[in-house]
Amino acid sequence: MVDLPRIADPRGNLTFVEGSNHIPFDIARVYYLYDVPGGEGRGGHAHQQLQQLVVAASGSLDVLVDDGTHRERFFLNRSYYGLYIPRMVWRELDDFSSGSVCLVLASRPYEEEDYFRDYGAFVAAKHGDNGTGLDTA
Ligand code: TYD
Repeated sequence: MVDLPRIADPRGNLTFVEGSNHIPFDIARVYYLYDVPGGEGRGGHAHQQLQQLVVAASGSLDVLVDDGTHRERFFLNRSYYGLYIPRMVWRELDDFSSGSVCLVLASRPYEEEDYFRDYGAFVAAKHGDNGTGLDTA
């Protein structure tokens, strides 16, 4: 979890993110998920190279992360916390609250060939990485 800067102000609070300062990559792309029906989720996948920061800019969602060995679930409901997702981590975004907005800062442009969309293929590649299933890259 990344605790982002917070400029508290009675007119409304402000949070900012600087690439290679608050997060360990330069920001090449921003995308956001919105109009997700309450309780819904988005499909799971992993990336060979992409690093991402996931922020619940409004509302809340659950993020499941899985490095091929361990699984952990994070609940995001504050716009000043981000979840950093390194390369080669499977992630699923679940249980969006109605009206939520999930903001994602990404280290690379959209590249379909960077995706693992099959969990079994992801785990096999992970275990082939260094023989331990742990990502040391
Ligand atoms: P995808 O990343 O597959 O999301 P999910 O796993 O939640 O379904 O994206 C869904 C579609 O949107 C897919 O066809 C690719 C397209 N897309 C882009 O064209 N550019 C982007 O930056 C992203 C994130 C997705």
